[in-house]
Amino acid sequence: WWSHVEPAAKDPILGVTEAFLADRSPHKVNVGVGAYRDDDGKPVVLDCVRKAEGKIAGNLDMEYLPMGGSIKMVEESLKLAYGKESELTKDKRVAAVQALSGTGACRLFADFQKRFLPDSQIYIPIPTWANHHNIWRDAHVPQRTFHYYHPETRGLDFAAMMDDIKNAPNGSFFLLHACAHNPTGVDPSEEQWREISYQFKVKNHFAFFDMAYQGFASGDPENDAKAIRIFLEDGHMIGCAQSFAKNMGLYGQRVGCLSVCESEMQAVAVKSQLQQIARPMYSNPPVHGALIVSIILSDPELKSLWLKEVKGMADRIIGMRTALRKNIEKLGSNLSWEHITNQIGMFCYSGLTPEQVDHLRNEFHIYMTRNGRISMAGVTTGNVGYLANAIHEVTKS
Ligand code: LMR
Repeated sequence: WWSHVEPAAKDPILGVTEAFLADRSPHKVNVGVGAYRDDDGKPVVLDCVRKAEGKIAGNLDMEYLPMGGSIKMVEESLKLAYGKESELTKDKRVAAVQALSGTGACRLFADFQKRFLPDSQIYIPIPTWANHHNIWRDAHVPQRTFHYYHPETRGLDFAAMMDDIKNAPNGSFFLLHACAHNPTGVDPSEEQWREISYQFKVKNHFAFFDMAYQGFASGDPENDAKAIRIFLEDGHMIGCAQSFAKNMGLYGQRVGCLSVCESEMQAVAVKSQLQQIARPMYSNPPVHGALIVSIILSDPELKSLWLKEVKGMADRIIGMRTALRKNIEKLGSNLSWEHITNQIGMFCYSGLTPEQVDHLRNEFHIYMTRNGRISMAGVTTGNVGYLANAIHEVTKS
């Protein structure tokens, strides 16, 4: 039956983890996947998560959640993204469901887009998280691209981005990273977000925000929601995918939220259709992670502990940016490494070529995605010198 099936191509991100795990070198370093590590390179379970689990223990039954997931978790997620005082959420104008983390939220939205606006397309930034392309491809939504990153400045190509926004047909769908753009670590400034939002109004475009790193850009989740808040202030009806994988360290729990703004009456219809799409795919989402999130976000003590811990993670990464840059510069590199500290969030878009990345893997047992993205969360006091030296070796002429 299946003799015609060829092996699938390796995933450009998760395939790096597989290769890293198979490497027996004691010097190996994984700066591939975007998953936070402590300064000993160990995965972290946040204290607020442990405490929330303590509250769950013994009180958790194993019943199904509704198709749309935990109502409390969804409410708390919306407060985090839209703001506690959001008129839209108060007026019940947001259709929202629990989703299987950010990926699941994006996929649910893409399927919804295809089902109810079958002729629409999605504009995706270049570059973007590799899985975005897979998600909209598998939902059969045609993809267009828009300029985002400027390879020479290693910053935002704002002028080209604005041209693409202006030149797209009125009423186009755009995928925007709310903060800590993956893979580039380059975000528009507040001023630039305001211009983008204005232009979206002029063109009547729909903004779909993927917010996988709320808290990781500035260390403060409120501040990291500013792009969304600007769009809301300007009266946009946005869509938003939220993930608690990174900011609560709940990677394997697959907990997130999808929201779509509408009128109060239509929000009911939209939510019911989102649930209808979820039902044959996975029926209803898992309960454990949703409970952790809702307990943390609704308990003032746990919430302030969480805010402290998010800031701690963001600060450790910022410290590693400085250390990596300093270490490379100390070796006498005559290239500019300023972008390591200018970029924000979990990633550094290093500018290393695929060949240099291969060289790092083959000679130094250092693993990163072939687009040169370094997960700064995998850099530690213990490996930063080794990493800097290897980068210098493969980039010096
Ligand atoms: C990443 O970009 O490394 C993460 O979002 C993990 C993933 O699923 O790709």
